[in-house]
Amino acid sequence: MRVLVTGGAGYIGSHAVRAALDAGHAVTVLDDLSTGHREAVDPRARFVEGSLHDPAAVDAALEGCGAVMHFAAFSIVSESCREPLKYWRNNVGGSIALLEGMRRAGVLRLVFSSTAATYGLAATIPIVETTPQQPINPYGWTKLAVESLIRDHADAEAGFAFAILRYFNVAGCAWGLGEAHHPETHLVPILLQAALGQRASVSIFGTDYDTPDGTCIRDYVHVRDLVDAHVTVLGRLADGERRVYNVGSGRGWSVREVVDAARRVSGVDFEVGVGPRREGDPPALVTDPTRIRSELAWASRHSGLDQILADHWAWMREHPRGYVTEAG
Ligand SMILES: NC(=O)c1ccc[n+]([C@@H]2O[C@H](COP(=O)([O-])OP(=O)(O)OC[C@H]3O[C@@H](n4cnc5c(N)ncnc54)[C@H](O)[C@@H]3O)[C@@H](O)[C@H]2O)c1
Repeated sequence: MRVLVTGGAGYIGSHAVRAALDAGHAVTVLDDLSTGHREAVDPRARFVEGSLHDPAAVDAALEGCGAVMHFAAFSIVSESCREPLKYWRNNVGGSIALLEGMRRAGVLRLVFSSTAATYGLAATIPIVETTPQQPINPYGWTKLAVESLIRDHADAEAGFAFAILRYFNVAGCAWGLGEAHHPETHLVPILLQAALGQRASVSIFGTDYDTPDGTCIRDYVHVRDLVDAHVTVLGRLADGERRVYNVGSGRGWSVREVVDAARRVSGVDFEVGVGPRREGDPPALVTDPTRIRSELAWASRHSGLDQILADHWAWMREHPRGYVTEAG
């Protein structure tokens, strides 16, 4: 089957392209390169450079496709607070435009990138798929809105099948692909930038949480395991089916533990400062991955903390300037 990967020039999307190709699918990528990189697009994929907001580009990209993996979105929480309209327009408006294109093309299968941010300050840990969703920032609200949008569309479109995957913290690199966000806001690459000497120091936000070492606890999933979940669920989606899965390892790591792992793996004792809590940071976000394990036989094979750090470090050491080439 040919699969359209929106956002296939981005961090997770580019890894998903590779996983889909390895699983025997043909792949088309639709990406406007707003945060993605041309160099991350696998040369075996058909690349349509264009935006979800351009119906002609969406139609061209959907040609011959039987399914869509939808990664294209903006995803910086702090930016979403400053510029909510930008996020609602791209994440929700872009998804509406994609579904309209899928309807025109008669494409009835969708795997959507949602997020643990839709749970907000979850009252109970671990988080299961039925934990109430109450986002605490515009980014989370846009992703929750798209979940509703997809359900409404499926109600009205006979045979439409979808999977919503709610990711926890994604990190790690594989297959010569990497993470190159500007600015970078994710903990793992930020720590490794410090190890590379690209940051003078890094700060831990809050050391007085009610956790064993006082720092926040998060669930990390290796990007390889995450994209494996996409390909697996795509292969299982039957006509009209609806599936929702949390994707995480089920193991929480504190910020201090991640710092220690980054120092251990890089061999660099970079400086770490302590700052005040950030507003809206929940003390712990950890999933219970029972549903995805039992229904898809999915396992977090690569998501040990040191392996995530080592794979991310290997890519960053080889690509200290991200995808920027010497010429660029
Ligand atoms: N990285 C994480 O830890 C994480 C966690 C939870 C959910 N997610 C979700 O996963 C998805 C991918 O995240 P990522 O970290 O790979 O982000 P990314 O910014 O690296 O990738 C997004 C890609 O989408 C493209 N894009 C954005 N708007 C577009 C548009 N209108 N038309 C065409 N292309 C467009 C960008 O150019 C980029 O290549 C996002 O939907 C994000 O919300 C990520």
